[in-house]
Amino acid sequence: MPETAPVHIRQGSSIGQPLTRREALLKVTGRARYAADNHPPGMLYAVVAASSIARGRVASLDVTAAKSHPGVAEVMTPANAPKLAQDPDEKANPFTFRLDLLQNDRVRYANQAIAVVIAETLEAATEGALLLRPTYETEPAHVVFASATPFVPPSVGVGDQPKASRGDVESGLTGAEKRVDATYETAAQYHNAMEPHAIVAQWDGDRLVIDTPSQGMAMAQSRIAGLFGIDQADIHIRSPFLGGGFGSKGLISGPQVLGIMAARLVNRPVKLVLRREQMYGPVGHRAATRQSFRIGAKADGTLTALDHHTVTASSSFDDFFEPSGGVSHTLYATPALSTTYEAVRLDMGTPLFMRAPGEASGSVALEGAIDEMAESCGLDPLEFRLKNYAEVEPLTGKPFSSKALRDCYVQGAKRFGWASRPLAPRSMRDPAGLLVGWGMGTATFPALMFQAEARAELRADGTGTVDIGAHDMGQGAWTALAQIAADGVGLPLDRITFNMGTSDLPNAGIAGGSAHTATAGSAIHNAGASVIAALAALATNDERSPLFGAGNTGVLARDGRLMRRDDESRGESYSDILNRAGRHSVEGKGQAAPNPGTQQSYAMHAHGAVFAEVKVDPTLGQIRVTRLVGAFAAGRVINPRMVESQYYGGMIWGISFALHEQAITDARSGRITNANLAEYHVPVNADVPSVEAILVDEHDPHVNALGIKGVGEIGVTGTAGAIANAVWHATGHRARKTPITLDTLI
Ligand code: MOS
Repeated sequence: MPETAPVHIRQGSSIGQPLTRREALLKVTGRARYAADNHPPGMLYAVVAASSIARGRVASLDVTAAKSHPGVAEVMTPANAPKLAQDPDEKANPFTFRLDLLQNDRVRYANQAIAVVIAETLEAATEGALLLRPTYETEPAHVVFASATPFVPPSVGVGDQPKASRGDVESGLTGAEKRVDATYETAAQYHNAMEPHAIVAQWDGDRLVIDTPSQGMAMAQSRIAGLFGIDQADIHIRSPFLGGGFGSKGLISGPQVLGIMAARLVNRPVKLVLRREQMYGPVGHRAATRQSFRIGAKADGTLTALDHHTVTASSSFDDFFEPSGGVSHTLYATPALSTTYEAVRLDMGTPLFMRAPGEASGSVALEGAIDEMAESCGLDPLEFRLKNYAEVEPLTGKPFSSKALRDCYVQGAKRFGWASRPLAPRSMRDPAGLLVGWGMGTATFPALMFQAEARAELRADGTGTVDIGAHDMGQGAWTALAQIAADGVGLPLDRITFNMGTSDLPNAGIAGGSAHTATAGSAIHNAGASVIAALAALATNDERSPLFGAGNTGVLARDGRLMRRDDESRGESYSDILNRAGRHSVEGKGQAAPNPGTQQSYAMHAHGAVFAEVKVDPTLGQIRVTRLVGAFAAGRVINPRMVESQYYGGMIWGISFALHEQAITDARSGRITNANLAEYHVPVNADVPSVEAILVDEHDPHVNALGIKGVGEIGVTGTAGAIANAVWHATGHRARKTPITLDTLI
């Protein structure tokens, strides 16, 4: 019976390197092929015609006029749309969101698809859609968040429970010497990925090939298989590049499915690309919130109670509730804690995950309210936070798997120069007379793990291949995961082929929840260990190998060589092992999954501290963020350049959250009036003069074998609160509503 050597993977030369994106050259030279860049022969163009009312039904469409336009091939309406094998309103699980797929004439929100025009050219399809001239039977719509009637949701999104508490909040508040009661409001935001949702769909009988951006190919396959009644294995998804997703591409959206239906209807390949304004409705958004705090503290600044109540909005027809209360479960030590929710239903598209869903909106509110308490206790905001530093997770009492937040506070404050901050607001001016303010916020995001599989092969020519159906939505996964793959199989990066981005590769789960590197990376690492074990078994059982008998002490794999762990000078190359064994290659498989035991025992989160400087024009109220310093601890850093870039992106989104982004709904029509990048403001370079990210060392022995936490979402938390608190410090005005606009400061 062959013995199996314990494999010790030594950290090789790839993990930890600040490599640039492997596809960078393709992207900057325009050779990276995004979904909409595909033009299979015979392809037609599909354009969505969208509802201009928020509730009711479509009474008529002038299909004849549209079809008589030269170039228009077909108009898909509820009258001729392919019937689906599954009702798109059926909820298989909380992740199955209801889709509008022309199965009836109902209108549930403005911008919902009511028809699809398919034509030889994009221009003809666009013109055809205009000729439909819909009429409606309009019903009164409820679109105003502030005036709708709240109810208690049965469950909260996928991130929280409707009610959570520890200790006695009411007595904690009664006994408090200091009290903060404050309500914070955050605006609705829409995913504005540079690449809109797009699909090129081709049917071959019951086989389907689609080019479409996806953060979760296997979930998309499963949803499509159900809707069309076909085998999941007959759906081939290609998603090599995404121009951003931010959560909106985590699940296949209605318009993407409409592209597949259109291709079936005309029996030709079809391309469907949403226009920018058409993304405001059918692909999800971050719902508005109103969050009320009741916080108690002793006179010395020790918290006695924290109550965080969130009111948010879902659609009239589905359940997604922004889980803003979660941040209060983890951040500050308090003997009494409670989070509760209410929601309203609006005639809007269903909200969805959007970068740090819950944590982003929850954090700006909590960090503001905590800052108010620091002020009321006469304490420096950093001192106050350190005084209430959570040594265990406040809600659960669990120890943290690791928590270098204190280091984040210290390093961030030092780099920023926080120590010279005057306590009183409105006490700093720059030479030009602008009010200067410094504020801070704590960042937090859970360290999640999902399920994934990977495959690895080592060949006798000294090369290897690692396969995983992972997703690069622009965050650098193709680079970071390849680094893990190279070290996992013990080869230099240039000797492996690393494949991802298509659905025929092993299922990598979802690129979401900031868990992709941890999840896919763990599967890759385990596939590497498995292929090395197979290789080691060949050597340690072969008398001709210098590794013979090393089964007890184990082997190390690096640079295409296996070495004895007890004597690294004794080893040989992979090629020698395979050639002598007469093998062309060896293969291994690996999996990743959350560890229930670890989850039971530990609270697992990434943390950070963000420091902001703003300058405010005292006459005009104009606000500029002049400096941002964020220090983050998120376990092992696979590629510092990519990680830094994720933090920058998150922090810049924090600027956006604090000062720019809001969707404005017309109360009469339910339409979003600023559904374009000219009027839906996001930061440009002029809004971001200086952003620094500090990568704080953190070793986590529990989260997963590689010690990786997520970095994709945490940057947006903490930052918006820091900016709002800096605006208070500059002006003395507590902005409890984001985005903070200049009219509220004058
Ligand atoms: Mo993210 S909102 O988990 O893509």
